[in-house]
Amino acid sequence: MNEQVEPHLFVILGATGDLTHRKLLPALCQLIKSGVLTSEDHVLGVARHTDLNDSGFRARAREMLQETGFASEALERWCNRCLHYQSITDYQPSGQGGAENYQTLTARIEALEREQRLPGNRVFYLALPPVAFPGAIEGLGRAGLNQGPGWTRLVIEKPFGRDLASAQELNRLVHRYFDESQVYRIDHYLGKETVQNLLVFRFANALFESLWNRDRVESVQITVAETLGIERRAGYYERAGALRDMVQNHLTQLLTLMAMGVPAAFEADAIRYEKIKVLRSMAPIRPENVVLGQYSSGQTEGEKVLGYREEPGVAPDSQTETYVALRLEVDNWRWQGVPFYLRTGKRLARHLTQIAVTFRQPPVCLFQTFDACELRSNVLLITLQPDEGFTLCFDVKTPGAAFTLQTERLRFQYKEAFGPLPDAYQTLLLDVLGGDQTLFVHADEVEASWKLYAPLLEGKVPLRTYPAGSWGPEEAARLLAHKGEPCLIS
Ligand code: BG6
Repeated sequence: MNEQVEPHLFVILGATGDLTHRKLLPALCQLIKSGVLTSEDHVLGVARHTDLNDSGFRARAREMLQETGFASEALERWCNRCLHYQSITDYQPSGQGGAENYQTLTARIEALEREQRLPGNRVFYLALPPVAFPGAIEGLGRAGLNQGPGWTRLVIEKPFGRDLASAQELNRLVHRYFDESQVYRIDHYLGKETVQNLLVFRFANALFESLWNRDRVESVQITVAETLGIERRAGYYERAGALRDMVQNHLTQLLTLMAMGVPAAFEADAIRYEKIKVLRSMAPIRPENVVLGQYSSGQTEGEKVLGYREEPGVAPDSQTETYVALRLEVDNWRWQGVPFYLRTGKRLARHLTQIAVTFRQPPVCLFQTFDACELRSNVLLITLQPDEGFTLCFDVKTPGAAFTLQTERLRFQYKEAFGPLPDAYQTLLLDVLGGDQTLFVHADEVEASWKLYAPLLEGKVPLRTYPAGSWGPEEAARLLAHKGEPCLIS
């Protein structure tokens, strides 16, 4: 949101990993291409490859750029001038190399800042597996890298903890060294244009905001359906499952943006305060309102695919859920009694992230006496991906003598209006650099969210199966079919 970027050093811990390759480098390149980052801004990659140096790292980066289609002469010049590398033997300050690792890192950072005449503004991006977060935070903190001559910001990837206790512990550790105003907890869904637009949609258009309450809304359904399986991430996914991987973060963020009250101002604290209020108003989840599932073999997008338990690296008797459907209630004045349905799953029938707001039907049906006249609810479909846009479903009279109603749609599509949308990481990095925390998750928010789902993490909800390529377990269809079919039209 903020395009003011001061010269800085962007330190990536985990610089040879998958996230750097797939998301961070391409996003940085976009920012260079668009002129937001210049040759005054430098990147220091940190990783455990002791055989790498600046030139080796630059060669790797060039390969990555070629693979992601970003190679250009200007970018190459930028890489050669602004990309640097420092190895670390262990992220744990007490591990191999211990505190010396971080002393060497500090010395390297200070030397770079002197050579490049940087003012001492620093970002530390933890592009690391979650098990390495505590060590890295402790290491940076003990070495004094939590405070620098300019501003210092810490970016932490999801998942932030694996339950309430571990999230609280991680927050305590973070706060031992960093002030909350320095911390940027990433949930990449918040960087998606369509997700940010939920705020504009709701608070810039008086029409919808006046309908956004229990008097007018019948139900809200949030669906994040993927056709992908777990890719090559069995090691991570087996411990995470869909609840930790998707529901506690991405779906909950969508829920809070849909349900929050009007913030006092369009600024980080006010928005995050309203989101936290939603989480604190949630009614406890009842086990009968939850369906967990795991995919068996089947077909997605015309291809035969393995069942979850047959995927490499997955235990043959794994109890990890790849599907979750939930009915939640926000117990406050605005939403009391309105069900919020959340569902997400891997290997589902279609790739679709969509929010369906079903409005209440008119209190009296005027057209009952006519044949073939059945009232349907107005539905607002907000499609977050793919085919980003909105559809408003409403009834019209079909022309002719007979009085028949038919559902028609009003449609807005981003790609028609604006062309391709920027990647979420580009937006988020820009906000980190501009010091805007609006799209990042506050410590209290992350804890409130874990607290909400805590009862489901105890393993007491039975696990159902569903064939790959379907819409999930049958039990979920029953849970979601609130006054009619679940809405999946786009
Ligand atoms: C990630 C999850 O956070 O989000 C993945 O770890 C999931 O399992 C991905 O596939 C979905 O993101 P997107 O942007 O493709 O909807």
